[in-house]
Amino acid sequence: MSSIASVRIHASQFPENVRCDLLESLRTRRVNHKFHYDSVRQTQKWLALHQAYSPTRNDADCRSVYEKSFEAAAQIKTKNVHVIGLGCGGGQKDTRLLKLLKTSGKEVFYTPCDVSLAMVLTARQTARAVVPEKNCFPLVCDLVTAGDLPRIIWAGRRVGDPNISGTAARRPSQNDARLLTFFGMIPNFEPRQILPKLASLIRPKDFLLFSANLAPGKNYAAGVKKVLPQYDNPLTRDWLMTFLLDLGIEYSDGKLRFKIETDSASGLKRIVTGFHFTRPCRIEVENEAFAFRAGEAIRLFFSYRYTPERVRKVLTRHGLEVCEQWIAKSGEEGVFLCNRRSRREEAHSPS
Ligand SMILES: C[S@@+](CC[C@H](N)C(=O)[O-])C[C@H]1O[C@@H](n2cnc3c(N)ncnc32)[C@H](O)[C@@H]1O
Repeated sequence: MSSIASVRIHASQFPENVRCDLLESLRTRRVNHKFHYDSVRQTQKWLALHQAYSPTRNDADCRSVYEKSFEAAAQIKTKNVHVIGLGCGGGQKDTRLLKLLKTSGKEVFYTPCDVSLAMVLTARQTARAVVPEKNCFPLVCDLVTAGDLPRIIWAGRRVGDPNISGTAARRPSQNDARLLTFFGMIPNFEPRQILPKLASLIRPKDFLLFSANLAPGKNYAAGVKKVLPQYDNPLTRDWLMTFLLDLGIEYSDGKLRFKIETDSASGLKRIVTGFHFTRPCRIEVENEAFAFRAGEAIRLFFSYRYTPERVRKVLTRHGLEVCEQWIAKSGEEGVFLCNRRSRREEAHSPS
């Protein structure tokens, strides 16, 4: 294995753009969640947290829900399949999918795509046992701000480009099936912001595997209340505080609080984590000063909880149709296999 990794970095994650996004987060007191995955330390903390609490790691039934969705996706007819992991994280789920596709006799290509370089490199490494280096095209980008992503994702590398290990890179062709994954992403974005971007990446013959954290049970509000304690634990607190500590804010400057909010436009409920200052605090970032008063709060994180019906509704509104769904017995997580609705269906859609 070469000691060099070839990674494409989109301008959306060039330092000057990341700097603007950071200043915007501090000015608005609403932290863009991408800043919780920025450094190697934050990535390691999130991976440890995920290992400890994620139902896909610790709940056999939830794991089997993903496996069933992978089996359904592996029915894709073409010989070659290009998996594009949007917000790939450590790439564990994508790799299980790639493994299944490979054992079904497909040639697999993989584009691990994430805002965090450390995550992309981790996903590339996780997938290595299944995807040869010449078939892997790591990409760092911000899914929200990279407007030309449909073209970039398609481009891969040019046929015949030598890759780092010296062998010619194999690039997926127009005829290869594309399977995009969007696992555990939707809770942390405003749906009206991310779903048009996601929909623009899905071509008519593509498939999308989409997973969401759900509110269990028949009563939506009670379901969200039930899962609230899952967010308030020492590993999550430590992970979320890293952003503030790195800026010079201290634990003793305030308190982390977790609460439930309802978005008035969509009616969706989310769990919100805020840091509430108990004493005045002043920090300087990139020559700009930020002063926080006692009693003021900065929103660090939010996580929307959906129901299967709410998932289908928001996807439909953006031209995506759920073909099949698998819901964990706990009712807390679901995986949805989707594709683009035909223009005829969209024209007749009530939404
Ligand atoms: C909750 S994790 C999900 C990881 C993985 N898909 C999984 O299910 O294990 C969210 C991931 O989204 C990435 N992310 C956050 N904001 C992003 C953005 N604007 N564009 C691309 N990736 C982003 C983070 O770096 C992180 O890896």
